Amino acid sequence: MKRTKIKELLARSAPLDKVLVKGWVRTKRDSKEFSFIEVNDGSCLASIQVIVDAGTPGSDALPNISTGAAISVSGELVTSPGKGQAFEIRSHELELVGVAPESYPLQKKRHSDEFLRTIAHLRPRTNKYGAIMRIRSKTSHLIHRFFEEQGFFLIHTPVITGSDCEGAGEMFRITTVKGTTPASEDFFGQETNLTVSGQLSAEMMALALGDVYTFGPTFRAENSNTSRHAAEFWMLEPEMAFCDLVGNMDITEALVKYVVSGVLDTCAEDIALFANFVDKTLMTTLTSLRDDAYVRLAYRDAIDILQSAKKDFEYPVSFGTDLQSEHERYLAEEHFKKPVFLYNYPKGIKPFYMRVNDDGETVAAMDLLVPRIGELVGGSQREEREDKLLERMKELELPEEDYWWYLDSRRFGSVPHSGFGLGFERLLMLLTGITNIRDVIAFPRTPGSIEF
Ligand code: 4AD
Ligand code: MG
Repeated sequence: MKRTKIKELLARSAPLDKVLVKGWVRTKRDSKEFSFIEVNDGSCLASIQVIVDAGTPGSDALPNISTGAAISVSGELVTSPGKGQAFEIRSHELELVGVAPESYPLQKKRHSDEFLRTIAHLRPRTNKYGAIMRIRSKTSHLIHRFFEEQGFFLIHTPVITGSDCEGAGEMFRITTVKGTTPASEDFFGQETNLTVSGQLSAEMMALALGDVYTFGPTFRAENSNTSRHAAEFWMLEPEMAFCDLVGNMDITEALVKYVVSGVLDTCAEDIALFANFVDKTLMTTLTSLRDDAYVRLAYRDAIDILQSAKKDFEYPVSFGTDLQSEHERYLAEEHFKKPVFLYNYPKGIKPFYMRVNDDGETVAAMDLLVPRIGELVGGSQREEREDKLLERMKELELPEEDYWWYLDSRRFGSVPHSGFGLGFERLLMLLTGITNIRDVIAFPRTPGSIEF
């Protein structure tokens, strides 16, 4: 008999004579004649109740079936007399697949996030972390679906690179293991790093295919031990030819709305868990993200707002300040109470590739700031004019010869183009109300942590 996922069983409209369910025991209660076992198979938040009576084949294993054990149950899907669920299973046959002795760390009680981080290999078996992983998967699919519908092409950009796209020097260097292969410099003929952004490669593809996106692991050696930074995170990076900064913000806004709406529709049960137990304001935040128009504000005007805010910031701001999370959150959370695009940042705090505005002082950059998180997206219109790009590279002392291929794209059929990067884990924090990036990624890589 073929195994059926619990999600499918609970969505049925009628009982069934024969079903086979496999999963992990959440709890077991025994009475004289019956045992009641709650089984979860990861397909959905809900567990299904299995009723085993004393004579059932395999019931001799009951004493060894405890929280955490894996079991296989065949039986009849019947209408449940109890309140909670529509169906339960009357077992015809029970098999203990894998025992879980008393040392199983996830005994039925509430565990702190800090503790669960120390058992990252087991935490997806809890309601909360199972829900996060399902939402993560769904969100990823929704992103792909959005771009597929918009006619974008998915491209795969390299993980090993020789350049530092962001110019911040926050890279992990790659080296070979001594004795087995030549040193990395000999292997590639130069020093190499793990990518901090696929943007420069994506630009080359956009200038051939029109609209493209890359979505993959990204690495930053920022030693900031914050709740919003990971050393390895996933970044979505769309890149659009013949697109200016306004078009860039339009696509960002449409994407975020599409994803929020899709998650609300397809992950309702999992989202409700977070709305009930993690963040009471979650539904308000999500409906606002889906329905409200996002604010668009020039950086210069944001500085005015921050300077006249009746709030003691740890860091004061003036034109040229790289905004801190406290400022970003103030704007989105307290001042506007909705997502805010800031655009036209001072060029001194932004990378070489951003298009210089006519004022010569600012660049066509945009960040999307959202409540609770701060920066969710960073993007820009790119500098498509070869002479201006060379000028910027000179100012920043970037060697022209290293970028010959990038400069080629400005020599041969250059066009205005734009793109952005969205931190996937930050999006998941926004969707779930979770406040620590370590809790939305299965095996987080942060300073001092690489156990799993
Ligand atoms: O603003 P960033 O640095 O922009 C870029 O890398 C551009 N090259 C993107 C582009 O235009 N194609 O990073 C983009 C986003 C940030 O807004 C943030 O959400 C996320 O990536 N991010 C991180 N997320 C988790 N951990 C980190 N250490 C992150 N650094 C950036
Ligand atoms: Mg940024």
